[in-house]
Formats: sequence, C-alpha cells, structure tokens
Amino acid sequence: MKTYYITTPIYYLNGDPHIGHTYTTVAADAMARYKKARGFDVKFLTGSDEHGQKVERAAAAAGVSPQEFVDNLAATFKGIWKLTDCEYDIYQRTTNPAHIESIKKLFKKLYDKGDIYKGSYEGLYCTPCETFFTARELVDGNCPDFGHKVETIREECYFFKMGKYQDALMKHFDENPDFLLPLSRRNEMINNFLKPGLDDLCVSRASFKWGIPVDFDPGHVIYVWIDALPNYISALGFLSDDDSQYKKYWPADLHLMSKEIVRFHSIIWPCILLALDEPLPKQVFGHGWLQYEGQKMAKSLGNVICPKALVAQYGADAIRYFLLREFTFGPDGNFTQNALITRYNADLANDLGNLLSRTVGMVEKYFGGTLPELSAEESAFDRELIDAATSMLEKVETRMDKLAFSEALNEIWNVVRRANKYIDETAPWVLAKDPSKQAELANVLYNLAETLRIIAIAIAPVMPNTPAIIREQLNITDSALSKWESAKKFGLLPRGIVVTKGAAAFPRIEKEK
Ligand code: MSP
Repeated sequence: MKTYYITTPIYYLNGDPHIGHTYTTVAADAMARYKKARGFDVKFLTGSDEHGQKVERAAAAAGVSPQEFVDNLAATFKGIWKLTDCEYDIYQRTTNPAHIESIKKLFKKLYDKGDIYKGSYEGLYCTPCETFFTARELVDGNCPDFGHKVETIREECYFFKMGKYQDALMKHFDENPDFLLPLSRRNEMINNFLKPGLDDLCVSRASFKWGIPVDFDPGHVIYVWIDALPNYISALGFLSDDDSQYKKYWPADLHLMSKEIVRFHSIIWPCILLALDEPLPKQVFGHGWLQYEGQKMAKSLGNVICPKALVAQYGADAIRYFLLREFTFGPDGNFTQNALITRYNADLANDLGNLLSRTVGMVEKYFGGTLPELSAEESAFDRELIDAATSMLEKVETRMDKLAFSEALNEIWNVVRRANKYIDETAPWVLAKDPSKQAELANVLYNLAETLRIIAIAIAPVMPNTPAIIREQLNITDSALSKWESAKKFGLLPRGIVVTKGAAAFPRIEKEK
C-alpha cells in the first residue's frame, strides 16, 4: 500500500492554540483524510515544541515547573484538535524521552562527522521568536516578523556547518521544482538565502537550561531548531532500536506550515538531512498568514481568536469548511466574522442545508417517506445533473492533489448548486399534481438523493461530520455506498429508499447575533 506522511509544525507551547494553528492543522487533517479515503496508508503528525527560553520564562512567570507548564498546554492543544476533528496519528512532543534520545544521538552523529563544531557567536536575538536575525533583516531595529525588541547576545556555542551543504541543496532545488511551493516562496528562498550563501548555524545555547543537554558538554542545550525539526523523524523511531516506521514512512510527502518558518523547513532542515545522509522531504508547502479583522494575529500581539468559541457557535464542520473555502491556500487571508457568517448562510444553510431538507421533505410529502421503485425515461435535466455529479470527484482530486482546497470545495458546490437548480427546473410540486407523472417525480427525487450521496463522500475530508447527517436522513447504511470511488458512479443508491427528516443541518445565523 502506498504511504503518505504529512506533518504540521509542532507548535510552540507558550499560549493557547488560535485560529492560525487551526488553519494549518485543519488543512493537514483534510489532506490526511483525503489520502486515507483514496486508499493510502497515512501518517499525520502534529505536536508541540516544548523547549526553549520562552517556555522557561513563561513557566517561571506562571509559578510552575516547565514540564508542568507544557503538560497543561499540550493537553489544551490536544483538546482543540479533538474539538475541530483533527485526527492525527502521531502527537509528537519534544519532551518525549524517545525524542530526547534520538536528538542526542543525532547531535553526536553530526559532531563526530565534523559537521558540528564549537565556536562563539554574537548576534541579534529575538527571544519571543527564538530566532537570530542579521542587522539587515531587522525592520526599524526590531524583529521583522512581529516587531519584538532584539538583544545582542554573545556566547560560546556549537555551530552546524550549513554552508557545506549549500551546493547540494541548490542542486536539489534545481532538480525538484515542486520541492518548495508555492512558487513565490521557492523564489524567495533561492534568491534571498541560497544564492547569497548559507552561513554556519548556531545550534546550542548556554544561557538557559530548558532544553536537551549536549551529552558531551553539559553546559549546553541543543538550540531549538535542531531539537524541533528532527521531530518529524524522531517520531518514526529514527536512530532508535526500532526504526521500522522510519523506513516505512520517510521521506515525508508533505511538510505544511505558514510562511515564517519556510526557511527553517526548506533550508536548515534539508541541510541537517543532507548531513545525516538521509532523504529530503518530498515537499514543503508554506501557506499564508491569517489576519483577524484586517490585523496581524499572533499570541504575542494579544489578538488571538480562539477556535473553541467558534466551534461552539458554528460547529466544527462549518469552521473547517470556512477556513478551507474562503481563503486561497498560499497567500495571506483576512478572517472576519462577517465573511464567516455570509459563507455559512450562503453555502451551508442555503445551498447544502436546503438541498438536503428539500429532498427529504419532498420524499416525505409526496411519497410518505418511501420513494417508490418507479423509473421514467431520462430527461435532459436529469442527464445534466448526472453528468455534473459523476464528473465531480475527478475534478476534486485534481484540486486536492495541488492543495487547492478552495477550488476543490467550489467543484463540489457547483454540483450542490446544480442540484438546487434542478429542483427549480423539474418543479416536483407540479409533477406531484399529475398522477401520470409519478414515475418522473420518483426519478427526480431519486436523482437528488443519489447526488446527495455523492456529495457526502466528496465533502468528507473537509467536513467529517456532515456526511453522517446526510446518510442518516437518506437511510444509507451500506458502507460500500460511502466509499470514495463509489462517488464516481451514479445510480448505486437502492431505489425505494426510506428517508427520515432530521433537524436542519445548518440553521441560518442572524448577523446581529
Ligand atoms: N515551534 C515552531 C515550529 C517548529 S516545526 C519543527 C513554531 N511554532 S508556532 O507555534 O509558532 O507555530 C507556527 C505555525 O502556526 C505556522 O507555521 C502556522 O502553521 C501556524 N500559524 C500561527 N499563526 C498563524 C497565522 N496567523 N496564520 C496562519 N498560520 C499561522 O513556529
């Protein structure tokens, strides 16, 4: 069976998860579900990045030990992934003993190879971002990402010989045009970092304790990126007694993240892997940042929006749908309450919700809930709907394979809207009045129900709960009718279905509320 290994970043545990983290995790989850539906053996990793000065300081401020601090936050993150139906296979924590062991060995391996050496470092350091910047990178003297103050730090540290792998990495970029996407980020990395030349990288710190100690030099802890990036392989047992998972799933098919850590994933991480003589991930994809109501959103700026409240109000499926439908996956996007409600009402309450309730309602009204096993000759309207429904899934696949979530959903909604239009075209309420049109009426309602069966399959990666609502109302119990491939065929639903109307799947939301 073909494997598919997908990862989100492991998130810093210095505050609650917000909608930005949710965006990446939901996208990864949708992709993982999609690949599972298509028969891949999938591993989906998310997790938390739990070391560093920032955590040490935050724990001290909260009056708890760093471990207690990260235990609490890891539980909070896991809670959010449960709430948003993100079903990861691996939750990797950098405080896992197995991870710590793997990192110690990895560090030593690079040291023994001569790719890590001791030197001294002076640089401009942004503590909240745990990143060194060059003077050129600063904006108005501050951290370019969030405007934090930077401090000049001088200390003895270990360096990783990144420069040594520059040519090999450049070659990899040249030979693999899809290694880093979107294209704009690829060009940025090549022109701004690779071409000017890679400096050796400081990979240990002596000024704080909360990290993985360098075994052979106890005053040092391993600097955050060498600790964090290899989590993707330590989670598979790399350098452990049992590395069968590593052999099976590595290289990763996709590392997902937003743009500010693309450099770490597409330059530093590949150099570490090259030094280890291990294969590089197949693809790194850096999506844009979500703003909130036109403002940059980040824990450190204090304007975080909590997924918990959104899910409580709209439901997980609606939030997942909104995140992946509203914003093109790649550029930045602006999350607004207004856009959320507009999309919810238009696409979910009106288009999908009404299609379901009208279809089920009409079967109840005209046939007492049981569609008679009558069939009439196919009309031009029937054919158009059937063609739209059966050709949809392939289009969805093409879009999903490119991480074009919004376009994939749009393909599905073209069919949802087509089906609603079909109701208007065929006017079942007119057919119902004519006893000689019963077979035609049964046909129309059957076609609608079958289209809904197909839609339920296609939306499942993004909306994992709604398919069950649709199936319950249409009384679909045979699991063969929920399989991905079955959505490429029309007419599988048994005729004579018995439906039951349920509560509205997406009740309309009044904007004032
Ligand atoms: N711990 C590092 C990652 C190490 S990976 C080996 C880190 N963590 S983080 O908590 O700051 O999370 C960064 C990631 O969170 C981004 O790359 C992105 O996936 C997600 N996002 C955080 N804020 C975001 C937005 N405002 N918008 C979109 N995604 C955002 O960096």
